[in-house]
Amino acid sequence: MSEPLLSLHGIGKSYGAVEAVRGVDLDIRAGEVLALCGDNGAGKSSLVKIIAGAQPQTTGTLRLRGAAVTFHSPQDALRHGIATIYQDLALAPRLSIAQNIFLGSELTHGPFGLPFPRLLDKRGMMAAAREFLQRLNLPLADMATPVERLSGGQRQAVAIARALRWQAELIIMDEPTAALGVKETAEVLGLIRRLNAEGKTVLLVSHNMADVCAVATRVAIMKAGRKAVDRPIAGLDPDTLAHMVMTGQENAGQHLPAGRGSMTAL
Ligand SMILES: Nc1ncnc2c1ncn2[C@@H]1O[C@H](COP(=O)(O)OP(=O)(O)O)[C@@H](O)[C@H]1O
Ligand SMILES: [Mg+2]
Repeated sequence: MSEPLLSLHGIGKSYGAVEAVRGVDLDIRAGEVLALCGDNGAGKSSLVKIIAGAQPQTTGTLRLRGAAVTFHSPQDALRHGIATIYQDLALAPRLSIAQNIFLGSELTHGPFGLPFPRLLDKRGMMAAAREFLQRLNLPLADMATPVERLSGGQRQAVAIARALRWQAELIIMDEPTAALGVKETAEVLGLIRRLNAEGKTVLLVSHNMADVCAVATRVAIMKAGRKAVDRPIAGLDPDTLAHMVMTGQENAGQHLPAGRGSMTAL
């Protein structure tokens, strides 16, 4: 098997006396959609923040394609190809779609093809923004539209387009559908499939077992800071997965109704 894109070895995180993450080993393989599940307080967000460069781990090491790395900030992780989309999306509502995608990393050009002075390349940003959204199969008419006029699903697309602008290889999404309705959830799942079809690797933190079964290729379940389960999604349905999250155990046989022993299940 090829080298993992990112691997975690013995990752731990303590906040004072609280051990939020304990000795987690986890491989993230290029091209997979890995779901990270677990009850509230299991340590998912703490782990994600470490991978995203938003906070340092207390113990353990990260390896990016086999080489030990330390991310000192989210920008640093982004430069290494890891983009994180938090629930609040961190978009500027008054700014346009294009401005949001290029926020803090605007395209510039010189006049008449000259190198100086650097001017904002508005047309270039509009065109590139349009192309990113087309790649996500979400063509929107006007890239000058303020983000506050977009639906929840469209805003997710803008946040993802920003990750594409950085050519991120690993895109982390923490509970992307938690605040969305049925239609918008379907849109976001479509975006994740689209990213994956483009070859992007996705780490999806989710409480929604139906979403996980619909888009993930593998699932890691955390329980009280530890990784309790790590397996392919194939053969799992949302109920079985919910049971695993609850118990922190993979033994699906225990999920069978009374009266049906494991022998019958075989
Ligand atoms: N900044 C923090 N300071 C103190 N405790 C924290 C902090 N962040 C998280 N925790 C604690 O760490 C544990 C794991 O939290 P978290 O990583 O947010 O879990 P999850 O995302 O799975 O709900 C919880 O007990 C939580 O209260
Ligand atoms: Mg969380």
